[in-house]
Amino acid sequence: MLDNDGTLGVLGCGTVGEAIVRGLIRSGSLAPARLSVSTRRTEAAEALAAKHGVRATVDNLSVAREASAVLVSLKPQQLQGVLDAEEMRAALRGKLVLSTAAGVRLEQIRRWLPESPLIRAMPNTPCTIGEGMTIVSRGPLATDAHVRTAVRLFQTVGRCIELEEKSMDVVTALNSSGPAFAYLIIEALAEGGVMMGLRRDVAMEIAAQMLHGSARMVLQTGMHPAALKDQVTTPAGCTIAGLLTLEDGRIRSVLARAVEEATRVASRLGQS
Ligand SMILES: NC(=O)c1ccc[n+]([C@@H]2O[C@H](COP(=O)([O-])OP(=O)(O)OC[C@H]3O[C@@H](n4cnc5c(N)ncnc54)[C@H](OP(=O)(O)O)[C@@H]3O)[C@@H](O)[C@H]2O)c1
Repeated sequence: MLDNDGTLGVLGCGTVGEAIVRGLIRSGSLAPARLSVSTRRTEAAEALAAKHGVRATVDNLSVAREASAVLVSLKPQQLQGVLDAEEMRAALRGKLVLSTAAGVRLEQIRRWLPESPLIRAMPNTPCTIGEGMTIVSRGPLATDAHVRTAVRLFQTVGRCIELEEKSMDVVTALNSSGPAFAYLIIEALAEGGVMMGLRRDVAMEIAAQMLHGSARMVLQTGMHPAALKDQVTTPAGCTIAGLLTLEDGRIRSVLARAVEEATRVASRLGQS
């Protein structure tokens, strides 16, 4: 993934950073010795070192200096404070920098790191269990080889595709807020099961596995969801009864508008 004995640095190794670290180690893509990570708190760094066997520190500059590429998974409001400094610019000059910060545009990062090839990435929390989805966009200095490195990195924790940066606000909504929408749907369907007499834990397991299996059907068969839906829907049956109830509640436009509204808010994130 990285040149010969290159090291990946992770600045801000929290939920997203740790998911990637875990994915890289589990897939055998990078040995722990080739990972170096930073956090704000010493105890967080110690915990990461103990758990994953990586070098972990609160010294961002040392991570940036020794790495051949850097994943920046700091919170959006922490990015400028860490990156916009002369020593950091020098440490990262010519090195691939991948940022997962929601709402922080490549143009902003370019002002802080004008000589680094940049890639913006939008992962989601299922990356934590290797079932994530990540969208990457390239900045001005990023080559096809840099994009391939980024895609391979995020493929260790799920699927990854490249899109133009203009799609980042909608993918922030659909991909990164999306799991919250899915959890709400799982919870609501399980409540229906509880209402009709199922134990809550049983209803939750059925609802979650049902949604998981249905999503995999769409991905693996490549069939349109409407065609898969029609396969389940027998005339005068219970499925059509449930579907019409959902349509009465305007479920399609509610879900689509949720993505539209979240995209609107995402477009304002990171813009001070
Ligand atoms: N979570 C998601 O679903 C998701 C999805 C897409 C994109 N993102 C983006 O990914 C980024 C990270 O999100 P997250 O959920 O992983 O956040 P997080 O769990 O809060 O992790 C942030 C990490 O940054 C560290 N940190 C804070 N200030 C620092 C500093 N000055 N120097 C070094 N490390 C510092 C924190 O260390 P301490 O723990 O010691 O404070 C923590 O390890 C955000 O920009 C977010 O917008 C997140």
